[in-house]
Amino acid sequence: MWKHSQQALALVGRSQRCLLLPSSVSTISSKHPRTFLSTPIPEVAQMDLSINSYADLYNFSIEKPDIFWKAVSGRLDWHQKFITTIQGDFTTGVNWFVGGKLNVSVNCVDRHAKNHPDRVAIIYEKDEPGHHEFITYGQLKELVVKYAHILRTVGNVKKGDRVAFYLPCGPTACAMALACSRIGAVHSIVFAGFSADALASRMNDAGATVVITTDIARRGGKTLKLKKIVDDALEHAPCVKTVLVDARDGDTSRVKLQHPRDHFLQDLMNTSTKNVNDVIEYVDSNDPLFILYTSGSTGKPKGLVHTTGGYLLYAMFTYKNVFDHRDGDIFGCVADIGWITGHSYVLYGPLANGGTTLAFESTPIYPNPGRYWEMVQRLQLTHLYCAPTAIRLLLRFGSEWVQKYDRSSLRVLGSVGEPINHEAWQWFHEVVGEKRCVVRDTWWQTETGGICLTPRPSGPTDPVLPAMPMRAFYGIKPVLMNSAKSEGQEEGALCIEKPWPGLAQSIWGDPARFKEVYFKEFAPYYFSGDGAIKNADGYWRITGRMDDVINVTGHRLGTAEVEDAMDEHEFTSETAVVGYPHEIKGEGIFAFVVLKEGGKDLDRQKMEKELKKLCKERIAGYAIPDYILFHDGLPKTRSGKIMRRILRKIAAGETSPEKLGDISTLADPSVVKSLVKARESLK
Ligand code: PRX
Repeated sequence: MWKHSQQALALVGRSQRCLLLPSSVSTISSKHPRTFLSTPIPEVAQMDLSINSYADLYNFSIEKPDIFWKAVSGRLDWHQKFITTIQGDFTTGVNWFVGGKLNVSVNCVDRHAKNHPDRVAIIYEKDEPGHHEFITYGQLKELVVKYAHILRTVGNVKKGDRVAFYLPCGPTACAMALACSRIGAVHSIVFAGFSADALASRMNDAGATVVITTDIARRGGKTLKLKKIVDDALEHAPCVKTVLVDARDGDTSRVKLQHPRDHFLQDLMNTSTKNVNDVIEYVDSNDPLFILYTSGSTGKPKGLVHTTGGYLLYAMFTYKNVFDHRDGDIFGCVADIGWITGHSYVLYGPLANGGTTLAFESTPIYPNPGRYWEMVQRLQLTHLYCAPTAIRLLLRFGSEWVQKYDRSSLRVLGSVGEPINHEAWQWFHEVVGEKRCVVRDTWWQTETGGICLTPRPSGPTDPVLPAMPMRAFYGIKPVLMNSAKSEGQEEGALCIEKPWPGLAQSIWGDPARFKEVYFKEFAPYYFSGDGAIKNADGYWRITGRMDDVINVTGHRLGTAEVEDAMDEHEFTSETAVVGYPHEIKGEGIFAFVVLKEGGKDLDRQKMEKELKKLCKERIAGYAIPDYILFHDGLPKTRSGKIMRRILRKIAAGETSPEKLGDISTLADPSVVKSLVKARESLK
């Protein structure tokens, strides 16, 4: 049903690209020429305040958040106007746009389908290069309405019910998420690289009644049997009653369905959507839109709940301002829909703005390291938003792969998910962006809903410094707690002082944990879990996680999750997992394992294989440790606490006594010496 021709692309882009002024510029009154911003905020400019710079505008958003957010909330279509902009604070819990009612799919699809039915909404870039499909806003609306009907009639999904997704990044995932929102259901997208166990635990926690999957997926030339993984997961997830299967390329011969539980979407589209009744459920602004699971330092992954009005406005507004969205842009965020970046900047941010978004199914190096750049040339992408781990990987293959392709369509480059090192930033800027494009390092989290620290918006003469997100976005007031000052800069725990609309509302089923994790240590502020540095000019740089969460190839992982998986082995007595610096992945996983008496004589290679298999089965492929070091003991304090600080140094190969620091408080300091020796033998 999609358009397969370049014609559709021409519709989104070229004809409109000659009108490249921001769409809102013309609405600013001549009395208030606001030329200091590339993406002005006319709603505020019209208020007749003396706002003459980015700093003024930012200060206004901090000092008068209710006026600021009320003004920009007009960018959403409200079914019923809200009464109160912000209610409550971090101590009591925060509600946004109280009393307002809206529907996300109407905001992301209907209003654009009405005005620009032929504009491309989604470009589906399949695993095989050159196999792209275009879905216009008109087509997307038709699809969303039909999917919503299937969810209601076949899946018996009602307002507030949870629907799990185990799908690759593509139009089915995007349209189904919008279909959930159309009927007031809550989606919970699980990254289709997670194991059956991880999927089952997430579906159980969310109490999902329906799961949507595909028979197979393709990624990097490999075939992934998603339906088989869902079948395995469902053995332990009795809450799920219906499985909707999207047969890849319409081929329904690859998997057998289990009746009456399973249905092919293709069959349902042919039969049950003959008489579609389009029911739009307008929900309260604070009703949940989705649950997304993310790792923490302790316990099982947390299901963060994002609400409808606040989240959507924040995704929409950050997308517009951080990326300087203009009519005709083709936004290329290569994140998977299974992560928050996919939610906010593949799906909701671009579509709420009526933009054209890319749904990328492949990897940066399939079929070769020129994949991104060939795609930029073919699809005329104006933006590329990716993770530093991909930049570091591609940098290694050399600039020739980039320079082979025309990148003149690119205007903005963005990085997200982990600290970007100088070398990667410079290469991105100089080679990929030909020093023409603005590079934006963007810091944010699953919890924050959208970008919080980023070099833009800023004035034309404001500097953009390499490898740091630099500035706070509108409405975000970062503060450093427990900070120490040195050499003109300050370093501490990164907290945020006041509520903003994108912040998650709770942890699904566990509001007490939400308070405990984010608002207790540095009450009354929000604690991000990250450390940061504020330099003498007030610019921000992130130093990394301060807790036991690590960041492997841009994937967030709790070391406790990996330990729990390995502890399941009958012969492990104790495990300690830490991250260590890895040239490409950002952080690698290093596991220290103490075996039980009965396990000490076992074949270590076999044992290592079994432990790695457990990590893959319980979590995902990216959770497999790079190193497993078997040892007789771990460095512990006299009270029995493992000293991870020392393990992190040993894993990083920083083994000289000065680097290891004070070990005198250990119950048995000699364990360090033998661990260092064992680590050296691993090299
Ligand atoms: O440690 C920070 C790191 O990623 C964490 C959030 O991970 P997640 O919830 O999976 O969301 C990733 C995509 C938004 C943060 O606590 N992080 C994210 N962006 C940056 C970053 N670290 C440094 N610089 C960034 N730009």
